[in-house]
Amino acid sequence: MKKKIRIGALISGGGTNLQAIIDSCESEKIDGKMVFVGSDNPQAQGLERADRHGIPTFVVNYTEIIKGFKRNPENITLPDDLNLEDLLSKQSFFPFDIVSEKLNTFITTRTVAEARLFEAMSAYPFDLLVLAGFMRNLTPYFIDKINKDPEHPRIMNIHPALLPAFPGVDGYGDTYRYGCKVGGCTVHFIDYGEDSGPIIGQKAFQIKEDDTIDSIKKKGLILEWELYPECIQLFAQGRLRTVKMSHKLIKGKEVERTVVKILPQA
Ligand code: GRF
Repeated sequence: MKKKIRIGALISGGGTNLQAIIDSCESEKIDGKMVFVGSDNPQAQGLERADRHGIPTFVVNYTEIIKGFKRNPENITLPDDLNLEDLLSKQSFFPFDIVSEKLNTFITTRTVAEARLFEAMSAYPFDLLVLAGFMRNLTPYFIDKINKDPEHPRIMNIHPALLPAFPGVDGYGDTYRYGCKVGGCTVHFIDYGEDSGPIIGQKAFQIKEDDTIDSIKKKGLILEWELYPECIQLFAQGRLRTVKMSHKLIKGKEVERTVVKILPQA
């Protein structure tokens, strides 16, 4: 019998990608088993999908944590194991560009939420964590708890655009408004930036004159449901490696980027 990887998922909404992954595990397109589904949103419809398949779920209510902090900042303190200096040196994405009260709120509330996420996840050992429409940025505090070996990152995300174009929350909308003639989706490993990690796979679709944002989203989602399981299966087969590539540009400048190499099937 083939060895199955243990997959955990974080979601915020409808969970159609989650469903595609669960179905692919059940039909053995993925050599894996979904071991938990967590959400920041108690109303996430995807939680019901997990229930229907007998998969354990939990919620860490980010909105409550943020509200609680704003009401009463002294009631909530940074997690004991957080090294703030280390976090600030690694965090390459913040919604705020200056050190400010907002930054303090962001760091405190996110790391507190992440400590709770990590605690809830600890009940379910896993090999891979997939973000399937999880609408919260993860800080290095959380990422470093999961990624211990730089050559084998373990957190994947799906993004509704052909990265590096259109990172952020509305990939299909941004693609449409820009007037692109091709759109698509990307599965990538998470790094410390926003939608900036090494790319594992991408699929593209044509955008026609009569397309609308809704029709683009439909075309994109259909591709997402194929792409995410395919990328997860590559991980399950042990075929993904991240490697540092450096290239010399014309004027001699060297650029370096961590990329994913897909190894041939054994
Ligand atoms: C997808 O478009 C995904 O790319 C983005 O959020 C959406 C989630 O959809 N990150 P669903 O919850 O999987 O249906």
